[in-house]
Amino acid sequence: MSSLARLLVVGLLLMQKEVEGDFSNPHGCPSSCICASDILSCVNNKLHQLPAVLPHWATTLDLSHNVLAQLGNGGFSGLPRLQTLRLAHNQLQQISEGAFWNASSLRHLDLSFNKLEVVEQHYFQELVNLEVLLLFKNSISRVDSQALAGLGNLHKVYFSLNLLTNFPFFSIQQPSHPLLNTLDISSNRLRTLPIEKVKVLPANVKNGLYLHNNPLTCECSLYKMFLHWEKLGFGSVHDFREEHTCLVYGEPRAQVRFFRHVRIFENCTFGPQTEAPEDSLKAFVGEPLLFSCNTSFNRAHTTYVWITPHQEFIAPPGNANKTLRMYNNGSLEIKEAQMEDSGVYVCIALNHRLLLNETREVNVTVLTRRYEEESFNTGLTTLFGCLVTLVLILMYLFLTPCRCWCRKQPNPSPANECSAQSSILTTTPPATTEGPGRKASTTKHVVFLEPIKEVQNGRLRVVLGRDHPKIQQLKSDTDSITSVLSDAPIVP
Ligand SMILES: *[C@@H]1O[C@H](CO)[C@@H](O)[C@H](O)[C@H]1NC(C)=O
Ligand SMILES: *[C@@H]1O[C@H](CO)[C@@H](O)[C@H](O)[C@H]1NC(C)=O
Ligand SMILES: *[C@@H]1O[C@H](CO)[C@@H](O)[C@H](O)[C@H]1NC(C)=O
Ligand SMILES: *[C@@H]1O[C@H](CO)[C@@H](O)[C@H](O)[C@H]1NC(C)=O
Ligand SMILES: *[C@@H]1O[C@H](CO)[C@@H](O)[C@H](O)[C@H]1NC(C)=O
Ligand SMILES: *[C@@H]1O[C@H](CO)[C@@H](O)[C@H](O)[C@H]1NC(C)=O
Ligand SMILES: *[C@@H]1O[C@H](CO)[C@@H](O)[C@H](O)[C@H]1NC(C)=O
Repeated sequence: MSSLARLLVVGLLLMQKEVEGDFSNPHGCPSSCICASDILSCVNNKLHQLPAVLPHWATTLDLSHNVLAQLGNGGFSGLPRLQTLRLAHNQLQQISEGAFWNASSLRHLDLSFNKLEVVEQHYFQELVNLEVLLLFKNSISRVDSQALAGLGNLHKVYFSLNLLTNFPFFSIQQPSHPLLNTLDISSNRLRTLPIEKVKVLPANVKNGLYLHNNPLTCECSLYKMFLHWEKLGFGSVHDFREEHTCLVYGEPRAQVRFFRHVRIFENCTFGPQTEAPEDSLKAFVGEPLLFSCNTSFNRAHTTYVWITPHQEFIAPPGNANKTLRMYNNGSLEIKEAQMEDSGVYVCIALNHRLLLNETREVNVTVLTRRYEEESFNTGLTTLFGCLVTLVLILMYLFLTPCRCWCRKQPNPSPANECSAQSSILTTTPPATTEGPGRKASTTKHVVFLEPIKEVQNGRLRVVLGRDHPKIQQLKSDTDSITSVLSDAPIVP
């Protein structure tokens, strides 16, 4: 008996264990987290500190919506595969040196919605593979000029919704961040911009430099720069045109949307040389195009890159799908120009000996020769066709022997064997106060000519009803009138 009971108990325990095993997390998963393959999610758990043990296989660690106030030294060093770290919506005020020790595989770091006040030089220095850095909605008022140094793989950095009054633009001036295509400093407290420093930023950075919604003081130089960026089709300006504001005389209450209200800059002088691309080229669709990066450098010690109007980064030997080819001498070749190849191409030349760089812009316009000819021809043909049809219809109406609406016919019978057109006519009330002959001819005009005029300005019914009160019943048949008419090429 007792052995049987023991067996039962053991069996139950085993079952329970199995059941638990089915529902609990995999081995090594912290109790406050959920583990799914390589994702470790510890979201919304009121965590004050990192879980003591983190499974080494995680590539994504989500710690958002907790109350972390600091990150311990080497807290992520046991995660050699960690690529994505989400720390949004925490209470982080600072990041201690060593917080990211041995986390150099990290590519995506989200620190948005925290309480960071400065970005120090040491914060991200280990993260050499970092591609995306999210710092929006903190209280950052200062970014150390070296904070992004060494992060040569950065693609996107978001600083918006902070308290920045300035930004170390010069730290990204050199081509040290060749892949950086988004730098968002919108919605901060920038009152002035170091225009000259911003202007000489590499084109790949300028393409995605978001500066809108800052309390910038209205200045000609500022406006000219944004205007130029707009002409170049930079998404930062194009997508947030309305958010580009400046303060008149720096007065906080005098904010102007300067792309909409350009009069504020009516007295700015625009030097001819400054803002237009230096070179422009035209080609027809399908033609090859070859253009060089005309800089003052000796080619021997110079490397070149191109940025296309689609913000594609081109280096020799060209782009992935081989539509663009690039030579070491800086020349860019478009194999077969297409309409979408139009736009401003920016070349950056870097001279290694002089440690100097130069940018050149080439405005490429691809034209469709064939389309222009064709549309002209089509237009002519259509016009001719219309005229011929009109003449034919008039001839049919007035010259063919009358079968349906003979003038002398006293009562046009509904059972008339007529064509499609007549079936519409017969729906008009035959008897009027006027003579039947007169009526018939009026009707003829109404259906074939009046509606043609009136359909074009979309007021068919009203006009019919006003001019010919009795014909108002045509209303019910307007659709068929239109459909019959639309068989004739007159109606566009
Ligand atoms: C970093 O990793 C190396 C070896 O991969 C190890 O020797 C070192 O102790 C680690 N550092 C930290 C802070 O964990
Ligand atoms: C490029 O050239 C086209 C056609 O000549 C012109 O319409 C366009 O405004 C030019 N773009 C710039 C940025 O100057
Ligand atoms: C531009 O100059 C004219 C003439 O000097 C002046 O009346 C006008 O107020 C100026 N406009 C602005 C926006 O400063
Ligand atoms: C570059 O310079 C050459 C020679 O001076 C000239 O033919 C060419 O039009 C210039 N521009 C481009 C875009 O190649
Ligand atoms: C080549 O790549 C560009 C962008 O990288 C794309 O817009 C274009 O459609 C591609 N062309 C072909 C033929 O795949
Ligand atoms: C660059 O090299 C290509 C291919 O060798 C050549 O077609 C092109 O003319 C060269 N460009 C210049 C500016 O020398
Ligand atoms: C690039 O050129 C600008 C001005 O032309 C200069 O201020 C900057 O230092 C240059 N960068 C490098 C790496 O030479």
